[in-house]
Amino acid sequence: MRVFFEEQFGRPPAVVARAPGRLEFIGNHLDYNGGPVLGAAIDRGVKIAVAPRPDQVIRLVSQAQKNLVELDLSQVRPVQGTDGWVNYPLGMLSVLRDDGMAVPHGLDIAVTNDLPMGAGLSSSAAIELATGYALAALYRHPVDRKRMAELGRKAENTFVGMPCGILDQGCSAFGKKDHLVAIDCATNTFSNVPMPAGLRFWVLNTQKKHALIDSLYATRHRECMDALAVLRRLRPNLRDLASADEALLAAATDLQGDLLARARHVVGETARVRDTHLALAAGDSARVGRNLTASHASSRDLFGNSCEELDFLVEHAVRCPGVLGARLTGGGFGGACMALCDARFGEAEAKGLADAYASRFGHRPTLFTAATGDGAAVEA
Ligand code: GLA
Repeated sequence: MRVFFEEQFGRPPAVVARAPGRLEFIGNHLDYNGGPVLGAAIDRGVKIAVAPRPDQVIRLVSQAQKNLVELDLSQVRPVQGTDGWVNYPLGMLSVLRDDGMAVPHGLDIAVTNDLPMGAGLSSSAAIELATGYALAALYRHPVDRKRMAELGRKAENTFVGMPCGILDQGCSAFGKKDHLVAIDCATNTFSNVPMPAGLRFWVLNTQKKHALIDSLYATRHRECMDALAVLRRLRPNLRDLASADEALLAAATDLQGDLLARARHVVGETARVRDTHLALAAGDSARVGRNLTASHASSRDLFGNSCEELDFLVEHAVRCPGVLGARLTGGGFGGACMALCDARFGEAEAKGLADAYASRFGHRPTLFTAATGDGAAVEA
């Protein structure tokens, strides 16, 4: 990273920070519904290097994109088009300024990564968190881990315009090697739960992307809020959709069609996350795996955020010896499938799955294995 920065800007960076990507373990679309989620920071991520400039110019460059984006410090606002990646560092800069961090001069900012971009591993949250840590260190602006995750989410909600919850930023901030990240999204309480020994992840990315993903995510978000509004007519003090229960859903005769299906997913998934906590504590990895696969079925059948490609991968993965469970990970509508695997499922088996996918869909999914990793930090 330091070399890349020097090549681009002709001097060394003042601060380098790194932040990991994440996998959503279980708890699909529960975060903005106030539910519990389990995720993991992985052992891949992004690095951000920064150095102050004497003028009022901000220059940003990413190793993946190469072209330099330049703007004035007084012109920090969202950028459209192919340079859209700069909205993540700029969004973080903007929310940190709102948080009281003074930015008296311009900056050079460089980004490198060993995390595939746009693969459902939340490279965006990793850029936000790494930028946050780098800038807070540069300007000696104290921000604790929880607040940094919340500021990352705020950057995404208010600057990027994506109504996401705290899952991605929370995992990138609170990741810990050999552990999962547990988040109670009603209170933003973060903790770590040991990852079952001997298990790891395989990630197969469908490469399916379409322009509607963001708007589909926003539609699901709105449907959940609409379902909550209907349920509050019966139970006015209902805290959030994840606090609903089967009895309330049965009593709410006004809740029908898609809204009922979304609410049933949220209620069922909340129960599955709680059961997964119990299964992890009991060392029952088979039950953990079954919950992951059941989560996928609920996303597919009730939440309507899977697709043919993801269903194919999950269906074929779970037939393989060594795969304990598999599901879509993240927002859905494309993106990646994650399989929780023991040592029997390795490179050859993953390639076999990719071959089967290629003969069905005519293109190969990208695949890689990932282990849990540590959360965002400034590099010494
Ligand atoms: C995306 C969002 C998260 C979360 C997941 C779905 O990753 O950024 O906040 O809502 O989708 O669980």
